[in-house]
Amino acid sequence: MRRKLAAGNWKMNGSRAALAELDLIARESAACDLDTLICPPSLYLSEALTRAEGTSLHIGAQDCHFETSGAHTGDISAAMIADLGASHVIIGHSERRADHGEDSEDVREKARAALSSGLTAIICLGESEDQRLACNTLEIIGGQLAISVPDASTAANTVIAYEPVWAIGTGRTATTAEIDEVHDFIRARLIDRFGEEGAQMRLLYGGSVKPANAAEIFATDNVDGALVGGASLKAEDFVPIIKALDAS
Ligand code: PGA
Repeated sequence: MRRKLAAGNWKMNGSRAALAELDLIARESAACDLDTLICPPSLYLSEALTRAEGTSLHIGAQDCHFETSGAHTGDISAAMIADLGASHVIIGHSERRADHGEDSEDVREKARAALSSGLTAIICLGESEDQRLACNTLEIIGGQLAISVPDASTAANTVIAYEPVWAIGTGRTATTAEIDEVHDFIRARLIDRFGEEGAQMRLLYGGSVKPANAAEIFATDNVDGALVGGASLKAEDFVPIIKALDAS
């Protein structure tokens, strides 16, 4: 049985004051039988961890370097994230791939660093609109999956997030048929490569998940949760998504 995961990616949003939302999210989702996670900007990780202490809310980072330490100005390592007490790190988000030129090899190296530091890696995959229109979606996803996911991945240390680039922050959501097709494809590939571990690895959908569409998305086979951007910033949006996942 795969445990469901509702993950929020705050991206470069929020403030110290906004961390009060974590208290609400933790309190209002306490009775739900699933994992909840918020990934705030790294500057706020420490304070977020303090706020989440004693609750079931997990705190994670949005990226890490593949080295443990060294001359990499502005970067943070997986070891540092783990040292703080955070549990997860998002790797290979399409905004990192686009804004920072990260390719799937970089993503794999970062994921390796995350796993060896004891973090759970949330590895993101997704096709662009042009790739979907050219009917290349499964080929792109298959290629990203093969390279980005390290051999050391297990169901316990790795989560895969399917995030069609054209659905992120656009208000456009993939249809349940589109999500179903890609998630089934990812599941089959994971089973081919990792056997039972691949069958148990959690698959999240991300891209304009909102309270209004969450229940429909969570009813899709092989969707074990969501990676939520904009709608994770406020408890009043994120809590209904958590509850819809719990009810699914
Ligand atoms: P969105 O972002 O929910 O704002 O579309 C999703 C993501 O990028 O993880």
